[in-house]
Amino acid sequence: MAQHEKFNFSSLEEVESKIGELGIELACSRDLSILKQPVKIGCRTAPNAFAVLPMEGCDALPSGGPSELLRDRYLRFCAGGAGLVWWEACAVVEEGRANELQMMLTDENAEEFAALLKECDEAAIAANGVKPVHILQLTHSGRYSRPVGHTPAPIVPQRDPILDARTGVKDDSAVCTDEYLDSLPARYVHSALLAKKAGFDGVDIKACHRYLMSELLASHTRPGKYGGSFENRTRLLLDTVRAVREAVGPDFIVASRFNVFDAHPYPYGFGQLPDGDVWSFDESEPIRLTRLLCEAGVDLLSNSAGNPYYIYPQVTRPFDTSSQGIPTPEEHPLESVRRLFWLTSLVQKAAGDVPVIGNGYTWLRQFAPYFGAANLQAGTARMVGFGRGSIAYPDAPRDVMQNDTMQPNKCCVACSRCTQIMRDHGRTGCVIRNAKIYGPLYKQYREEADARAAAAANK
Ligand SMILES: Cc1cc2nc3c(=O)[nH]c(=O)nc-3n(C[C@H](O)[C@H](O)[C@H](O)COP(=O)(O)O)c2cc1C
Ligand code: SF4
Repeated sequence: MAQHEKFNFSSLEEVESKIGELGIELACSRDLSILKQPVKIGCRTAPNAFAVLPMEGCDALPSGGPSELLRDRYLRFCAGGAGLVWWEACAVVEEGRANELQMMLTDENAEEFAALLKECDEAAIAANGVKPVHILQLTHSGRYSRPVGHTPAPIVPQRDPILDARTGVKDDSAVCTDEYLDSLPARYVHSALLAKKAGFDGVDIKACHRYLMSELLASHTRPGKYGGSFENRTRLLLDTVRAVREAVGPDFIVASRFNVFDAHPYPYGFGQLPDGDVWSFDESEPIRLTRLLCEAGVDLLSNSAGNPYYIYPQVTRPFDTSSQGIPTPEEHPLESVRRLFWLTSLVQKAAGDVPVIGNGYTWLRQFAPYFGAANLQAGTARMVGFGRGSIAYPDAPRDVMQNDTMQPNKCCVACSRCTQIMRDHGRTGCVIRNAKIYGPLYKQYREEADARAAAAANK
């Protein structure tokens, strides 16, 4: 692994030269036309190959419905020209909300989402002549549940000696029962039916970033029907996918965004060799899971990796500057980018015709489209997803569609400040490119978090 460096390239040739120096495989193509082609996803077609990855704003109304900040974000995403918008984490149960302003679709607020979707499509058509495919991410935050105030209320599938102390797990009372897990598929079905009624094109059964479904995949030490063997650890995810597919019928997309590699040692991580090394990846179970998800009826997949709340967030999102308390990675961001591309390629190969949305592009700034085009040409992904890149520069897809370029001064600079706001329990967005709104919020939440930490230390 090479030394970490901040992005410092002014031409694609310079990036290629660094890739050569690092001796890693990362292809790019100057022909961007493949990014502009429609992509078939189950019963729908995305008008181009750009996707907005789910980006939580932690800024819904207390009811879970759309606030003004949330509405603005999705209007910007949709007017920006991406072919698919993957709406952020939306809790299926109150106790599984990651914060008290996490999005939640309910019988009471479904009409508000329907109205927002209509507005989003109108904005997309006015700006680009086409509307995106809308996918809603359904989640249970598990270990990271905090539905009220600043107090963690973890619901975990297994004890974890590395994470328990960091996440407020004090004893076995945080471990959920099999009966609790048995009750969840019906909650996902309820949310999926509401999403269909509101006008979404599909839902995602989220199993990434070590939230409940993701941690379950790694619950080697849990006894009973949801722990231990591969069949048991994947049971809830597959049962939920099948139940949702049956309930929504064939004219609705069922997707799953799942962690291919946790970067968390066995027996507490998924996609790990049993040698206890954080970095030893074992592809066999993720590939088996990909095939089973396709058999269970998914039309769309997205790979992710890592635990954004732990000390290796570069596995999820390569960055220049860490958020507070996170060490500088012991690898070059281009190596982190390559890992994400490689994980996407493994999943796409196992998924066959089912499209996989790749990630890891944002750190590449204005050069990302060249790498996306190469990946699509090689068939190692079907769509190119942007997370932070979308909140910083939502109209990048339109700039590429129209001019074959992205403007460097609008790109995300991978500064981790949007993540820092999330860690400080605030409403988040791009602190650099939307500084008027998020600059003061960033400062306010930093001060409040420091004050809470000082008060806790004085107790
Ligand atoms: C502030 C913030 C919020 C995020 N919210 C979600 C989310 O709701 N669901 C999800 O699957 N991933 C979420 N992610 C991860 C992104 O979707 C994406 O996987 C990650 O940022 C890497 O992609 P990028 O390099 O394009 O940013 C979030 C990331 C950030 C920084
Ligand atoms: S705050 Fe903006 S520039 Fe910084 S990482 Fe987040 S999206 Fe990128």
